[in-house]
Amino acid sequence: MPTRLAVLASGRGSNLQAIIEHFDNLARERVAKVVLVASNRADSPALIRAATASIDIANFDGADDGTQLLKLLRKFRVDLVVLAGYLKRIPPSVIREYAGRIINIHPALLPAFGGEGMYGARVHEAVIASGARESGVTVHLVDDEYDRGPIVAQWRIPVEPSDTPESLASRVLAVEHVVYPRVIEMVAILQNTESKISV
Ligand code: GRF
Repeated sequence: MPTRLAVLASGRGSNLQAIIEHFDNLARERVAKVVLVASNRADSPALIRAATASIDIANFDGADDGTQLLKLLRKFRVDLVVLAGYLKRIPPSVIREYAGRIINIHPALLPAFGGEGMYGARVHEAVIASGARESGVTVHLVDDEYDRGPIVAQWRIPVEPSDTPESLASRVLAVEHVVYPRVIEMVAILQNTESKISV
């Protein structure tokens, strides 16, 4: 049985698009498929991308204690929750029920340049301001601290002397689109073979 993915997204949804396209392939559909895209923002472009791909969409209150989100995840029999530009903290009740089964992508090499408030342009501005010679992407399991769960994959990207936050952001995002769907596939395969990753 394919791993049933729910993608939570608040923003433009370019990673969601890469994930949908990756699994929209007969061989990979057998490994995993996106069964739900949910957002705390009704105007998220990610919801339009999902609807265009005929994937069920839902809204929930990001300030809720987790009851609404858990109800959705149970209703769609979700196996793995994928955060793709979802900015709110995941409530403890959801973390408990989905322990080791929620993953996130961050546009830098965690544990550096992560934590509450470190998202979007701020991450790349901080990397450039620090003089770091490399940045990258990190995929990690989600626990109750922002950007602190166990790391499952990283990809390093050099920071060029001529880089601006914008140029670095666009190179990092292009790598996210390659790395994230493949790491999700790997996690799904591990789940399918019951080699569970535990938090
Ligand atoms: C990505 O940079 C991701 O690393 C971060 O949020 C951004 C989402 O972009 N968690 P998009 O909505 O997938 O285009």
